[in-house]
Amino acid sequence: MPFNRAQRSWVYRAAKDIDNTVAFGSTRDLKPGGSILFVNTAFPTLGKDAVKCPPVVIGENSANNPFTTHSFFNISGMSFGAISKPAVKALSYGAKKAGAWMNTGEGGLSPYHLEGGADIVFQIGTAKYGVRDKDGNLSDEKLREIAAHETVRMFEIKMSQGAKPGKGGILPAAKVNDEISKIRGIPIHTDSISPNRHPEIENNDDLIDMINHIRKVTGKPVGFKAVLGDKTWLCDFLTIVNKRGKQFAPDFITVDSADGGTGAAPMSLLDYVGMPIHESLPLVIDSICKAGLRDRIKVIASGKLINPAEVAWALCVGADFITSARGFMFSLGCVQALQCHQNTCPTGITTHNIKLQHGLVVEQKSTRVANYIKNMAYEVGLIAHSCGVRSPRELTRRHARIVQGNGTSIMLADIYPDIYPDICAVNTKEKN
Ligand SMILES: Cc1cc2nc3c(=O)[nH]c(=O)nc-3n(C[C@H](O)[C@H](O)[C@H](O)COP(=O)(O)O)c2cc1C
Repeated sequence: MPFNRAQRSWVYRAAKDIDNTVAFGSTRDLKPGGSILFVNTAFPTLGKDAVKCPPVVIGENSANNPFTTHSFFNISGMSFGAISKPAVKALSYGAKKAGAWMNTGEGGLSPYHLEGGADIVFQIGTAKYGVRDKDGNLSDEKLREIAAHETVRMFEIKMSQGAKPGKGGILPAAKVNDEISKIRGIPIHTDSISPNRHPEIENNDDLIDMINHIRKVTGKPVGFKAVLGDKTWLCDFLTIVNKRGKQFAPDFITVDSADGGTGAAPMSLLDYVGMPIHESLPLVIDSICKAGLRDRIKVIASGKLINPAEVAWALCVGADFITSARGFMFSLGCVQALQCHQNTCPTGITTHNIKLQHGLVVEQKSTRVANYIKNMAYEVGLIAHSCGVRSPRELTRRHARIVQGNGTSIMLADIYPDIYPDICAVNTKEKN
């Protein structure tokens, strides 16, 4: 735990670009409730009829510089600090090779994020690392400097993350070296604890103001990341967006799962707070559809979506993109030693101890990162074709079934009926 051998092995093999077929039969127990199954058709899509995923545009009518991307599988926020210099570099080069984006996490933008030339989502955490003035407030000047990098494509306000809702980032003193303290603008060798929320965002209006302020200053798409708790909050937020006008909407919402990962978090929050993605993702998509904002807000899903079936499930539900953190750590060679907070990671991914980083050879690992993305796209494509559609973005709630407690399965569309199929299918522009 948290990931079993079968889940990890798939990522290792995909990253090494070696054969990912397995023998004898499934190791999954399909009896308990919650397992995913896909609805294969009698007449699968032939290779010659398959199509590439169409590009998706984020911030099409709101930002001066909308972001267009093909990749539905991207790298979730992990700060430079939580992860090491060679890890950030390998992710940057790997994402570039595969045409995916990488999220900076809340630790600011380092030269290593920029080095590989990948598309970047800059995350603004509650301590505003990298974009704070001397008093710790958001600095427009620094925001403009970050936005001036062409490869910084979007800005994400971190409201919360699944592993520790209601708690800010934690970077233990052992990991705050000279370079990290400079990039973050904080004292060296001192615990770096960010506030448990943005002090200036007290309510939905404040959040909408912040989104629009950052979009105005940077000219780039802006969204926020949160783990859902209170079901009514999102509806209230969307109602206020509609009152103020569609143009005030965020360009995307990243929904993180209660069982998301982290570099360091208290166990009570890690294990007991927040909603899991299988419950929150349909709720978020449906709330946005009901509010009539599906054409404005893209949805990014994260939380243990590291293998093709989980990614395909999220696309079926209606996510536009899936991001992963720990999946990419596995592609870098993570062995799940569970020491991310101790600066002793044996694989060099979450340590700044240079001796432990020797095995993390950027060139080799960046290829593994790219292979992981490539093989993910390929195998989600296999599921799509088995279901009779031409590409992963054509998967809908009619293509997945969920095994119930009594062992029988129900179609996703029956559990969560598409409310406005035409709008819900905004990510399937090229429908059959
Ligand atoms: C080492 C590590 C560092 C992380 N740092 C951040 C961060 O800075 N900001 C953030 O929003 N989430 C952070 N996360 C959470 C991930 O971005 C992601 O939301 C979560 O792990 C779920 O995805 P996964 O199950 O694919 O790992 C971090 C996760 C890990 C494992």
